[in-house]
Amino acid sequence: MAVDQDTMNMLKTESAGAPAVDLSWLDLGQTWGMQAKPGKRGLTLDEVNIGPYGPPGDESKEMTYRARGAVPREGVPRIGYYLDKKADVWSDNATLLYEEAVQRQWSSATDIPWETLEPLPDEIERAFCQLCTFLTEVEFIAGDTPGQWVPRISNEHFETKLFLCSQIMDEGRHLDVFRKRALANGGGLLQASPTSSLRTIINARDFTEMSAIMHVQAEGFVQSMFRMGELIAKNEAEKRMFRLCAQDESRHLGFGVMHLKYTLEHEPERREEIHAYLDESENADPETGTFGINVAESLILLLGGGKDNVDEGFNKFMALRKRQVLEYIHRLNVAGLDDRADRMDPVMRMMLETP
Ligand SMILES: [Fe+2]
Ligand SMILES: [Fe+2]
Repeated sequence: MAVDQDTMNMLKTESAGAPAVDLSWLDLGQTWGMQAKPGKRGLTLDEVNIGPYGPPGDESKEMTYRARGAVPREGVPRIGYYLDKKADVWSDNATLLYEEAVQRQWSSATDIPWETLEPLPDEIERAFCQLCTFLTEVEFIAGDTPGQWVPRISNEHFETKLFLCSQIMDEGRHLDVFRKRALANGGGLLQASPTSSLRTIINARDFTEMSAIMHVQAEGFVQSMFRMGELIAKNEAEKRMFRLCAQDESRHLGFGVMHLKYTLEHEPERREEIHAYLDESENADPETGTFGINVAESLILLLGGGKDNVDEGFNKFMALRKRQVLEYIHRLNVAGLDDRADRMDPVMRMMLETP
C-alpha cells in the first residue's frame, strides 16, 4: 500500500520529536568476558554457577523476579516469593539431581514391556489393582505438593525450584504408569484410601516440614516398597515399573535427606521443631501405619501369592514394614537426626521388633 504525503510528513515529525535513545544498558556487562565452560557431564548448572551467578549466602533477601546474577535495578516487582532464606529450601545435591532427572526421563507408554502382562488369578489381579489405586493417589500428592512450593521460593534458589519441577514430572509419570497398569489387564481402579497421612503431607505449612515428611518419610516408605517390587510383581512389565519408579524416587529422597542435613547444620535450633513434625506424621495412621487396610491386605495377597498363602504373605509384609522403618531411621541418621530412633512412634518401633 502506498503511503500518502500527509502520513510521510507526520512520521517525519514524530521521528524528529522522539526521545534520545538510552543505551546505558550496553555498559552493564558486570561479568563481560567471563565464560562458562562445559565439564565432563556437559554444560550443567554447576558449570554456570560462576562469579555472581553462583548460590548466594544465607542472608540473601531477593524477593523480586530478578534472575540470580542479573544486574539489580529499581522498580522490579515482587511476585509473592517469601522463602528467601537459603537454609529454608537449600539442598547441596539439587543441581546434580535436576540434571540427572532431565537425562533419565522415561515413557510409561513405551519403556514398559506391556506385552508381558498375562491374565492373573482374579484375587491377584484385584490385589494389584488395589495397590495401583493407592499408588496413583500417592503420586498425585507427591506431584501436587511440590507444585504448591515452587511459587513460594525465591529465584535466588532456583536449583531447588528446578529440582521440584523435575519431581513433578517424575510423579506425573508415576501416577500415569500405575493408572495404566490398573487398566491394562482387565481389572481397573478399585477403592480410594480413607487414610489421612497424605493430607498431612499436602497440608504442611513449612518447606522443611513438607520435605521431611514427604521426601524422607513418605517417599522413603514408597521407595522401600518399590525395592521389594521383584517380590510383588508377577511379570516383567510390573518389575520394570517398580524399578524405573525406584530410580526416580532415589532422587526425591536424596533431595530430602540433603535438605534436612543442610537445615540442621545451619539452623540447629530447629531440631526439636522438626522432631515434632515427625511425631505428628509418624502417628498419622495409628491402625495400619503407612497403609489403609485394603492396601495392606493387597500387599499380603501379592507377597504370599494368593488367599491360601496369607501366612507367608503376612510375614513378608511385616518384613517390608521392618525394612521401611530401618531405612527411614538410616536416612534420618545420614541427615543428622540421629536421635530420632529414641522417640519414634510406638507402632513404628514395633515393626523393628519383627523377627
Ligand atoms: Fe513417585
Ligand atoms: Fe517421589
